[in-house]
Amino acid sequence: PHDDLTPLIEAHVRDIPDHPRPGVVFKDITPLLAAPEAFSAVVEGLTAGHGPGTVDAVVGLEARGFILGAPVALRLGAGFVPIRKAGKLPARTLGESYDLEYGSATVEMHADAIAPGSRVLIVDDVLATGGTGRAAVRLVQRAGGTVVGFSVLMELAFLSGRDKLSDVKLHALTTV
Ligand code: PRP
Repeated sequence: PHDDLTPLIEAHVRDIPDHPRPGVVFKDITPLLAAPEAFSAVVEGLTAGHGPGTVDAVVGLEARGFILGAPVALRLGAGFVPIRKAGKLPARTLGESYDLEYGSATVEMHADAIAPGSRVLIVDDVLATGGTGRAAVRLVQRAGGTVVGFSVLMELAFLSGRDKLSDVKLHALTTV
């Protein structure tokens, strides 16, 4: 049985109106990161019931997926793999581009980061349109990994990102 983390998340994630652009309400998780008991409960929740030793790698999505994904990886005894914005990773990369409201974005992963056959859990803070998440799933699959789950702290249901991830086990600790 999993605790419902919604009240805890509501108490520790604040809405910042008009950031980074007018009309966008930014979900600021820094109060949660500063509260160790809440942070710890969220990290446990993001493991999504996977036990130690059942996952080979946890992939975290820049930037807040790094902060949340790394402790999840340690808790599962798994390696941590970053997916970054284009141009940041130093070795050979695989890249995936996706459409934004205006223009497009590209994320990259080291080509040798995921061993073929690996069981991979992807972690991020917020699922919005699902563009970043879809790109991450593709990168893991192109590397030969199997996505065993996709965990987010918060799903913004009105943006329907879940529809882009219908083939993966999506675990949202809370939905707004
Ligand atoms: C945010 C968020 C997710 C992504 C979700 O990251 O942390 O990674 O957007 O949006 P989507 O579902 O519409 O793709 P952001 O682009 O703000 O990057 P940052 O964490 O590096 O600031």
